[in-house]
Amino acid sequence: MDNRPIGIFDSGVGGLTVVKQVISLMPQEDIIYFGDTARLPYGTKPQETVRIFSEEITRFLIHHDVKTILIACNTATAASLPYLNEKYDVPIFGVIASGAEEAQKTTKNHRVGLIATEGTVRSGAYVRKLAQLDERITVTAQGCPLFVSMAEAGWVDNPAVEEAAKIYLKEIQAAGVDTLILGCTHFPLLAKPISRVMGDGVTLVDPALATAQKAKDYLKAHNALAVRETTGRRTFYVSAMTDDFSHLCQIALGQSYKPEVADLSQFSQK
Ligand code: DGL
Repeated sequence: MDNRPIGIFDSGVGGLTVVKQVISLMPQEDIIYFGDTARLPYGTKPQETVRIFSEEITRFLIHHDVKTILIACNTATAASLPYLNEKYDVPIFGVIASGAEEAQKTTKNHRVGLIATEGTVRSGAYVRKLAQLDERITVTAQGCPLFVSMAEAGWVDNPAVEEAAKIYLKEIQAAGVDTLILGCTHFPLLAKPISRVMGDGVTLVDPALATAQKAKDYLKAHNALAVRETTGRRTFYVSAMTDDFSHLCQIALGQSYKPEVADLSQFSQK
């Protein structure tokens, strides 16, 4: 048994889609969430910058004595997962391997679409992982940076999202995919309009559930699941207060939480 919290982070509210799955699979776990709202978006920034941000947050979470960390951000996973796992003892999970594995299980025609940030698309991380899993799979990828701001603004089912989706998804539709990876943790918040544009024949893959399941399997295998009779405590930190965070918690988690502002400066690598 290990009652220490699970640390989860993202550039903003996107990681709440992973928190939701962690809560549903492991309700008794304490969670410490960090949303880097002061420096969002990550998806348009160089990998090295995102790696530095991810390391600061990792050190912040380790300072809060977390037993494991979930990088609930595809961009940060692509930029920093192997580096952080090598450098820190705490087990760290990303979302990309889980997303690729889910997509591989889902696709029948071996044509997979990927929507993500430009950073994730540029990293080639999904393409590499999918090729490793099944070399027949072809990936059509599209960066959708506007979706991040739309999700942060709480525009979860707004006509503007559907209009943007019609433009962003054109090439992916033309490729005849039967599976679409929501390769940015903000995007499951926009699943309804995206799904309307893609139509019934295309299955949307949200890596969040498989990621939470991986973390659960790991904790179970290491006898490190929390044991308590109540549900866990959930604590939310942001690097800058935003008007929409509590509202987005309500949308993503069905409950409103008020975040605290945390200063990361003492966790930067000098
Ligand atoms: N939610 C993040 C992801 O999964 C990135 C959004 C951003 O900051 O650009 O990639």
